[in-house]
Formats: sequence, C-alpha cells, structure tokens
Amino acid sequence: MAQLTGLLGYPVHHSVSPQMQNAAFNEQGLSFEYEKFNVPPEQLQQAVEALKTFHYKGCNVTIPHKTAVMPFLDEISEEARRIGAVNTIVNENGVLVGYNTDGAGFVKGVERLMNRRISSQDTILVIGAGGASRAICYALANKNPKVVAIANRTEAKATQIANDCLRESDVVLSLQQAEEQLASFGIVINTTSMGMNEDDPLPLSLTHLNEGTYVIDIIYNPFQTKWLTLAKEKGAIIDNGVAMLVFQGALAFTKWTGKEPNVSLMEQIVVKSVGGNYVIR
Ligand code: ATR
Repeated sequence: MAQLTGLLGYPVHHSVSPQMQNAAFNEQGLSFEYEKFNVPPEQLQQAVEALKTFHYKGCNVTIPHKTAVMPFLDEISEEARRIGAVNTIVNENGVLVGYNTDGAGFVKGVERLMNRRISSQDTILVIGAGGASRAICYALANKNPKVVAIANRTEAKATQIANDCLRESDVVLSLQQAEEQLASFGIVINTTSMGMNEDDPLPLSLTHLNEGTYVIDIIYNPFQTKWLTLAKEKGAIIDNGVAMLVFQGALAFTKWTGKEPNVSLMEQIVVKSVGGNYVIR
C-alpha cells in the first residue's frame, strides 16, 4: 500500500505541490502519494488527528495553518519553534513531529544562485516582516553571515523578528535607511507581497543598488516582478521565489522518504504550472 502524504491549507486549490511531489515520487519508483486537503480552521485539529488514524507518513502545512497547527503536534523542532511556524509534519512511528523547511529551502536557493555557500563576508538585507521573513531570517542568521538587516513598513514587526530569529549583531532598519544604505548589501531579498499585483509600489527603491548584487524576490507569480526586472536592468543577479518553493518541498520529500529528490524535475513542473520562462538567471 502507498505511503500517504499531503497538504493541509485553506484554500489549497492553487497549490502545485501535489504535481511537484508526485512527479518526484514516481521518478524514483517510490510508493508514495501526495494529495491536497482544503481544511477550514475549525477542522484543523481533526485533520491532524486523521494523519495518525490513517497512518500518514506526513504532510505539508500552508496558509493559514502554519502557526495554528503547532499545539496539535506531539513534538516541534527547535528551528520550527524559533520561527514560530510549521510547514512540514513527519509521522515518526505514531509521533507527529513539526518541522520548518521554508527558511532552509530559501537558503539552498540563494546558495545555488551564487554557486557558493553563504559566508562570514556576506551582508544581507531582508525586506518585510511577515511569516516568510521569519523563516528566512532564522535560516540566514544560522549561516553566520557578516550581517542580516531587516527593514519593514511596520518597524515593530521587524524588531520582533530580530529578537526572535536574528543575532545580537544583526540590525533593524527603517525602509528609508535601507534604501539609503542599499549599496552596502551584497544580497537583497523581498519577502513582502509588494509586486504580486500589477499596480503595487516597489517594496524598496533600487536607486543605490550596486551592480552584481544578488536580488531575490520570493514572489513567483508574476514570474519576474517589476522590482526584479528593474534590479536586472541595474546589473543585479536576480532570482524569483520558485527556488524557495522547490527546495522547501525537496527538504520535506527527504524527511518523508529518506531520499534526495530530482530537484530539476520538481522545478520544471513548478515553472510550467506558473507559466514562467525556465531560465530566469
Ligand atoms: P507572509 O506571511 O506571506 O510573509 P504577511 O504576514 O502578510 O505575509 O506579510 C506581508 C509583508 O508585506 C509585511 O512585511 C507587510 O508589511 P507590514 O508588516 O508593515 O504590514 C508587507 N506589506 C504589505 N503591504 C505593504 C505595503 N502596501 N507597503 C509596504 N509593505 C507592505
């Protein structure tokens, strides 16, 4: 009988995770299946209990359940606890353990873009202070770069993330300070939703951007935001949010199966489903 996995979210109809994961399972001849479940908040506890009842190997968790799911799990990894959100559950012999692979997935994407590891020389600016920013900040700080700076419209939310997920030596900036100091960062990341809609303002002015800076927008629909296009015109090396989506999924795949998936295959499926151009870099 196939090992069962899936996605708990609300809504989930737009998710490409089933195609991405099932293709990767099939390619390796693994008897695993991934299905999406539209779970309203009041049914979340029941859905988590059903994972045990029906011997699920695990599942992913997405909006709006990433934090709400935590009290219903048996154990939470240190990483997920610090981030304050779970995106992957593993059923470890009847014990449901919550992990977060979003931040580590993002880091893998950046390291692929740069073709090197994040090092103690790196200066990184993160714009935004929502759930995605928390996971990304935690994972980046864990790699011990020279500095992680966080800037957000609502500064109090950035300060909260700095306290929970960053190091003493990291900094909180206003958006204006971040714009003025932009040339001092080698890696600049947009985690806000600014750019999802055609008429959105830019998340941050790029007037002071240096050529050769790595600029990453975690949005993947549109495939290349106006902000990324502008960054590219100014000589930046750009990437969108496909890599984060693929690598967080790849890390979950490994937690469930113990095997490494074919990341290129997963990426091709995501890119095709969002109607993008495969080569962005
Ligand atoms: P997620 O959990 O997906 O990361 P979120 O929690 O909705 O998303 O966070 C959205 C981010 O986009 C926040 O940083 C938010 O800024 P605030 O904390 O000030 O709300 C940012 N954002 C949303 N609309 C914005 C706008 N019009 N201008 C600037 N930032 C905006």
